[in-house]
Amino acid sequence: MAIELAPIALPATASRTDFDPDFGREVKGVKPGELTPEQFKEIETALYTVGLGSSPGALNLCTSQHGILLFRDAALTPEQQYALTKAFDPESESYGHGNNKTQSTKKSILHPDLKTIPRVPQVQLIGNGMVYNHEGLESAALKHPSHTTFHKTRVSPENEALGITRFYRWHIDAALYDYNPPRATTLYGITVPGGDRQTVRYSDDDDPSGEILSVPLGTTAFVSGKKMFQILPPELKSLAVRTSVRYAPHPYVWMAPARAKSDGLGIVNEGLELPLSELPEWEQSKIKTLPILWKNPVTGELHFQVHPCGAQELIVKPLPLGASREGALYPDGEHIKDLGKVRELLHSMQRPGIAPGLVYPHDWKERDLVLFHNRGLLHTVVGAFKPDQVRAFHQCNLAASDVPAGPTEQDIIAWA
Ligand SMILES: [Fe+2]
Repeated sequence: MAIELAPIALPATASRTDFDPDFGREVKGVKPGELTPEQFKEIETALYTVGLGSSPGALNLCTSQHGILLFRDAALTPEQQYALTKAFDPESESYGHGNNKTQSTKKSILHPDLKTIPRVPQVQLIGNGMVYNHEGLESAALKHPSHTTFHKTRVSPENEALGITRFYRWHIDAALYDYNPPRATTLYGITVPGGDRQTVRYSDDDDPSGEILSVPLGTTAFVSGKKMFQILPPELKSLAVRTSVRYAPHPYVWMAPARAKSDGLGIVNEGLELPLSELPEWEQSKIKTLPILWKNPVTGELHFQVHPCGAQELIVKPLPLGASREGALYPDGEHIKDLGKVRELLHSMQRPGIAPGLVYPHDWKERDLVLFHNRGLLHTVVGAFKPDQVRAFHQCNLAASDVPAGPTEQDIIAWA
């Protein structure tokens, strides 16, 4: 059966000039749980590369990779979801955050959000409300992550009643310690409650001038890491291409006492992180130092891929020989350990990329499967449910068999 890729419906809020129209595609004419090897190859190609359909009716021609593939009305068992996710990285095996049973997992800020499917531990049940007799789980109390437990400030109850809400936490699906960032994530909506749209406010309640974005209830919001890089001014492009991020050991335990900014893009710098001496046992060799820019393995394009909450240090390379020093930041290189400075620099580079016009908020329908390029975009949980609004999703991503590739020497020369 030929695979058809149809443009995904863009929100009215998408910028006419800046939103990448290739960012998402709906995949039609195929069952994602029963792909033939040839069909999988087409899906993989669509996620990473320019669509070069050779047969009539195959892939639409496009100028860049997609990043998000949507399958409507999908029937998908946890086994099939695991198999589909694993097909992107056949050597991968464990869930992206490891086996979910270690001491560090229990202390992690992610722990309450994840329930493992007993039969297929690589697949997690996430959502909201009480779910009964679900894939071997007698009952599960799910809680949609809420900004009220993670942000420094919260939307007032009065504004919440008006539908004002927040991005929860912009991130890449990745343990950022020991395990490599997964290549792809699959999110499968099984039970999706209806309800009124909400309005994301980027700033605190006391700053009504802040940007806003109208979103469907319980959306997952995505932004392109490629766009995040492309829109930076030259001096920040130069900094991004030369810089690597060193993440904290057990970053989700480290960040647990800290509180996030109102736009969900990083932590407010107030020294609340757990001291390294109080973290579960850690090893220097398992700490992750990853380039800011991750290179699409097929197109070679650079994507700004930083999980700002877990970042602890920045390591900047000097400008390459012959590059102009005019206006350059850290022309001689720098190892930045001041957490406030690290956060300020990252926020200045990432914030333009989450502007309302660049966000794709997915409007979930039951049996939607969204497959996304976890090394090419950032995403976040959004909004707030009431306890009786039941939502059940299956999520799968796998710790990768390789480290994301960073910029080449040529890339550094080109952008520095
Ligand atoms: Fe995620």
